[in-house]
Amino acid sequence: MAANNSFIGVFDSGIGGLTVVKSIVESMPNENIIYFGDTAHVPYGTRSKRQVTEYVLQDVKFLSTFDIKAIVIACNTADSVARASVEAQYDLPVFGVVDPASKRAAETTKNGKIGIMATKATIASHAYDAAIAKYNANAKVFGMACPLLVPLVENGRFKPGDIVIETVLREYMDPLISEGVDTVVLGCTHYPLLEDIIRGLYPEINIISSSVAAADELKRRLEEEELLSTDEGSDRKYFVSDDADSFLRQALIFMGDELGGNVEQVELD
Ligand code: DGL
Repeated sequence: MAANNSFIGVFDSGIGGLTVVKSIVESMPNENIIYFGDTAHVPYGTRSKRQVTEYVLQDVKFLSTFDIKAIVIACNTADSVARASVEAQYDLPVFGVVDPASKRAAETTKNGKIGIMATKATIASHAYDAAIAKYNANAKVFGMACPLLVPLVENGRFKPGDIVIETVLREYMDPLISEGVDTVVLGCTHYPLLEDIIRGLYPEINIISSSVAAADELKRRLEEEELLSTDEGSDRKYFVSDDADSFLRQALIFMGDELGGNVEQVELD
């Protein structure tokens, strides 16, 4: 790893990874962060493994041009399908969302039945099944691809009482409840915005946010390696592959607070 005050390089298919940045900033306010959102190619969740891997390697190549101490794959789809390719090509510590959320789910469930809500690509990869099996070999995992949730959240449909989002959530959640799950992983960057609604609809279910779990695990590891930043405050830079203004318009919804840095559009080869 590089020095304590080097950047943490975070990337996502677009804007959703800001829920991970938000959790990192909340738990480690002095970390310096470079964020790359591949807004020209979002969504990743409907694409093939080959295509997502190609984009992901471009994302990491860009981040690696900065002085970074770790890479955070802040996208469940990218982490599920392309993590191995990143680890094979880069000699940098790579953190993700799938493993920390799986560990937390395996530790939380009482009856061993865990539901995963995620994009089509994440569910098809079975990355969550494999990760949960590492922590609890007897757990039963029930995947639910939820393709309507990302577009609905991006169109502002995440407020409690919104009949559209509540109806769609019930359509995805009810089959998981029928299977008897007691724990559900929000296995997509956008779903933490739906956490309050889901808790309201299913108060008896344990809800695990992959964004929060990822930030907690990152903190634990940086502490362990004595690599937490010693800076006062946080230097943050944001880069996107499509229009910076559209990113900015939506960014605060995902961050819940100011970004704390400028957004710049870049061309990747
Ligand atoms: N960031 C993606 C994920 O967490 C959701 C958006 C997309 O499909 O690109 O899976």
